[in-house]
Amino acid sequence: MSLPLFMWQLIRHPKTISAIAPSSQGLARQMASQITGSTGKVVEIGAGTGVITRQILAAGIAPEDLSIVEMNPKFCASLKAQFPDCNVLEMDAQALGELPLENVGMVISGLPLLSIPEPVQHNIIKGAFDLMVEGGKYVQFTYGPKPPIAPEVREANDLQWLTLKKVWLNLPPAMPYVFTKNT
Ligand SMILES: C[S@@+](CC[C@H](N)C(=O)[O-])C[C@H]1O[C@@H](n2cnc3c(N)ncnc32)[C@H](O)[C@@H]1O
Repeated sequence: MSLPLFMWQLIRHPKTISAIAPSSQGLARQMASQITGSTGKVVEIGAGTGVITRQILAAGIAPEDLSIVEMNPKFCASLKAQFPDCNVLEMDAQALGELPLENVGMVISGLPLLSIPEPVQHNIIKGAFDLMVEGGKYVQFTYGPKPPIAPEVREANDLQWLTLKKVWLNLPPAMPYVFTKNT
């Protein structure tokens, strides 16, 4: 249903979308698999057509505890229509740290992070960890063999990571990573 919207926006904004298809349901499920009863609020960034959003809600996050950050106005309009009880924010994820949200335990990202210039990556990652409570998790997938955050940005933000199960049924296959602050 949302594939035509995705494809049309991909043609118009290839740099900010930077993917040949929306995430598969299997990848979306993996991205939401770290959610537990004690996660607190969740912020999703780069939600696109809402594939991962649906799995975050299915994992038990109440709609009012989910904020959705997306900079593309067409995707935002679709997200607002699909998820009227979530907090949909049309904004650049670089301003995450300024959001007036409390008790955020996880940021789940569908951003094409490695195609984003390093200083912008840094702003997004710093903002995400400034926003989250201590022990907060930043979940991000990548299609490539390396971690999806540049080494300099990982170092500047003092991050460690683990990988989840690789999702082969995705175009292309993708690996979800979970980043946390070094303890
Ligand atoms: C590859 S698409 C992912 C869509 C969806 N999450 C999925 O997995 O299918 C990347 C999305 O990130 C959004 N995006 C890119 N840069 C952004 C930024 N700086 N702030 C907010 N959204 C951004 C794009 O508009 C696009 O919707």
